[in-house]
Amino acid sequence: MSTESTTQRLQDWTQHYTEVNGRPPRMFFSTFGCQMSFNDAELIAGLLDRVGFVKHDSPEESDLVILNTCSVRESAENRVLGHLGRLKFIKEQHPDLIIALGGCMVQRPEIVAKVQKSYRHIDILFGTHQIDHFPELLWQALQHKGKVISIEETNAIPTEGLPKLRSHSYSAMVSITYGCNNFCTYCIVPYVRGRERSRKPDDILAEIRALVADGVQEVTLLGQNVNSYGKDAGSSMDFADLLEQVDLIPGIRRIRFMSSHPRDVNPKLIRVFQEAKHVCPQFHLPMQSGSSRILKAMNRGYSKERYLEIAQQIKAAVPHVSFTTDIIVGFPGETDEDFNDTLDVVQKVRFDSAYTFIYSQRSGTPAAEMENQIPYAIKQARIQKLMDVQAEISLQINLEYEGQDLEVLVEGPSKQDDSMYTGRTGGNKLVHFPATVSEIGKIIWVHIVKASSWHLEGIPKKN
Ligand code: 5AD
Ligand code: SF4
Repeated sequence: MSTESTTQRLQDWTQHYTEVNGRPPRMFFSTFGCQMSFNDAELIAGLLDRVGFVKHDSPEESDLVILNTCSVRESAENRVLGHLGRLKFIKEQHPDLIIALGGCMVQRPEIVAKVQKSYRHIDILFGTHQIDHFPELLWQALQHKGKVISIEETNAIPTEGLPKLRSHSYSAMVSITYGCNNFCTYCIVPYVRGRERSRKPDDILAEIRALVADGVQEVTLLGQNVNSYGKDAGSSMDFADLLEQVDLIPGIRRIRFMSSHPRDVNPKLIRVFQEAKHVCPQFHLPMQSGSSRILKAMNRGYSKERYLEIAQQIKAAVPHVSFTTDIIVGFPGETDEDFNDTLDVVQKVRFDSAYTFIYSQRSGTPAAEMENQIPYAIKQARIQKLMDVQAEISLQINLEYEGQDLEVLVEGPSKQDDSMYTGRTGGNKLVHFPATVSEIGKIIWVHIVKASSWHLEGIPKKN
């Protein structure tokens, strides 16, 4: 069935639903994992908004529940399975509820088998390559109420120009690549998100121009490995060229990008990062381990020394850059000496913050088959040590901001304290400060009065 006729049929269906029920049908989203997963959720929400669904914040009162899942660690998968268990009770009370399970988990055959056997209340299973076909799958489910499964790997990129229902009016995510070709030996992503595909520069630039015209202040360019942008398409534009072009878009205030791979950082990118006017002084560069031996076993393509060199180059180019990373502890065969190398790099680079993870064995990846898997107690002790060391470094760096005035993009009320708002600095530091609702989405100056490892506190400056 063509997409157009599906759109029309769904529109007729939602109109009829609204007449009968006195309200439009509701959709509830539960999204796990990385920014790509949230980006998928915004795309699906946009497609369904177009046909008349409205977003709702309670699954019990919704007509459609969509879970976008993550497979990167076992703990993420277990959280989703727990969630599915709870949805069973809701479905028993609301048999017309449609439950759709999508994202990375659905690309794993063992998960599909488990869902079919033990989670029979799921109506739609859709893979990471099926995002723009979601309305067709929903239409099929509405028609015959049987299970609809669509998990083929097409390696296509979602159709250009699809509507998105963005979570924020002031900031937006823009995918520039999909998939990954790196095959780090611990990582499931290349198996569940397919080969790396780059969008065309013109499509990306047109999307960002439209976002800026719509009032967006901050754009985050997304990809599993943004700095290998353009390599697959044989495009004459590489990531540094693209960044330069985005920087020239009139009206753009802040540009971020994530994630980068050390293997693909080159002097040209560092130069553009330094010279571009609107690129935020923030560089997220996953290190994963500080041990050259472990990095080799991870298939990362760089050594401890090379990582230190790149970090030094980036910090020299942009002196107040906020430099962040991802680190895995307990990779198979990691000795105390290897772990000490990780601590050594952490102390030498002095990251602003680090996302630290306990290695999770993912079946189907080479590392899952390696000998010398590390006992959980050792992994736990290592991550604790790493977090303690990093927390102290983050605190020392943040203390330097006390007394300074920083530009902050106001995001909204703080979750912990209603009287306070939160926002982000150019360096992506979280700031708490008193503000009002009318300031959401604006960039204001905040005088920093107090710092901790995880956030800053301040007072807005009066103009
Ligand atoms: N176990 C633990 N952490 C992992 N990551 C990716 N795969 C695994 C795994 N199997 C981490 C990496 C990556 C981040 C998004 O998740 O640090 O950069
Ligand atoms: Fe996974 Fe490595 Fe690709 Fe990142 S670069 S998604 S860690 S395989």
